Amino acid sequence: MLDIHSHILPAVDDGAKTTEESIAILEEMYRQGITDVIATPHFYPHAHNLEDFITITRKAFSLLKENTKAKKVPNIFLGCEILYYSGISKSSELKHFTLNGSCFLLLELTPGLINDDLFDELLYLKEERKIIPIIAHIERYKTAKKYKKFIKFVKDNGILTQVNATSFLIKDYSKTLDKLFAENAVTFIGTDSHSMDKRPPFMDIALEKIAQKYGNEIKEKLIENANKLYLDITGKENFNEIQ
Ligand SMILES: [Fe+2]
Repeated sequence: MLDIHSHILPAVDDGAKTTEESIAILEEMYRQGITDVIATPHFYPHAHNLEDFITITRKAFSLLKENTKAKKVPNIFLGCEILYYSGISKSSELKHFTLNGSCFLLLELTPGLINDDLFDELLYLKEERKIIPIIAHIERYKTAKKYKKFIKFVKDNGILTQVNATSFLIKDYSKTLDKLFAENAVTFIGTDSHSMDKRPPFMDIALEKIAQKYGNEIKEKLIENANKLYLDITGKENFNEIQ
């Protein structure tokens, strides 16, 4: 199974601090059945320089690939988790941020960013730019004033979503996750792994909880969506319409 959200590159963001820590996370992912993982380091447009970001992430990515060649770990791909900013839909630099150079963009928000301008930009990205946004950990924005409208909007417009495996262990997210699954508004599950101690991968536990709470079909659908995304980002098949 593909994990679409992780901070496993050593020493590039608030994720893994060393190559050893990256490898420990990757080995645990593999043990949980994750065969492929996209490294999605944070890009904060207000704080980061694009050229530096590309240089640093590519270097860390190559280093990690080199150091995991002989190990039983998932295949690693390069992507990014980019924080939304006003005007992002018109940016000419988006190809640097998509998942393994595909048309899928993992987009981070904050509750305060959920407004009509965001909706317009998401539509522009999808319809005009043919870039498909995947809203990172959509459950985290539950305090947004327009959250309900946002969920309906993403669902109605084919904007994709991801929930964090860890959120299934946090009571505070329970009702929000119930609503998201009831609305059929969850496309992917991702580990958003940062470390082995504070934010480790919990894919196996989360999938088990999903099967128990929402049924095995829902769990299988999430796995199927991850498989489709894997085929797409590796250029094997084209799945612009994952639902
Ligand atoms: Fe993340």
